[in-house]
Amino acid sequence: MQGDLERILFDEATILRRLDEMAAKISEDYQKQDLTVIAVLNGSLMFMADLLRRIPLPLKLDCLSVASYHGRSQTSGEVVFKQVALPDIVDRHVLLLDDILDSGHTLAAIRDKLETAQPRSIRVCVLLSKKKVRARHVDADYVGFDIEDEFVVGYGLDFMEQYRNLPFIGVLRKDLIAASAS
Ligand code: IMP
Ligand code: MG
Repeated sequence: MQGDLERILFDEATILRRLDEMAAKISEDYQKQDLTVIAVLNGSLMFMADLLRRIPLPLKLDCLSVASYHGRSQTSGEVVFKQVALPDIVDRHVLLLDDILDSGHTLAAIRDKLETAQPRSIRVCVLLSKKKVRARHVDADYVGFDIEDEFVVGYGLDFMEQYRNLPFIGVLRKDLIAASAS
């Protein structure tokens, strides 16, 4: 799998060190608050597991699953929710976790939908944020790393459902993306 990468961006130790910092900030911000973490599956699985174990606060955890990429590296703009019911977040502080902020479609659609469920607040936490002009504006309150606009895989992030289990994050070879598009 590693041969499919152009280069490694963040190794495991670097990711975990950054999670220590993010978790410390989140733990400070949400002291004595009714916190519900909502993780967006499948991409945020590793991030969620490693981040939440560093947050020593009482919290509830829910997961949401949406389809927006249709297995390819281009986003479609259409976000389909796979659950009918939303978690009960009335009066709770919601922290929305996702792997990466790219076009903004996914997190903007989820945030809009969660807002209809009367939470006390909603904040967004992403491991990666691409530096680019987004189709939809999303304020990310906690960001692990800002990256260039390149397609990355590993540590939960996939290309056509592969590479999620790599323990580090790297840039996928462009010839592999091009080959799958033809
Ligand atoms: P957005 O809706 O364009 O912001 O994209 C959000 C979703 O697209 C993420 O949750 C990822 O699943 C996927 N995605 C966007 N960029 C990448 C990438 O570079 N690698 C892998 N998945 C990505
Ligand atoms: Mg994906």
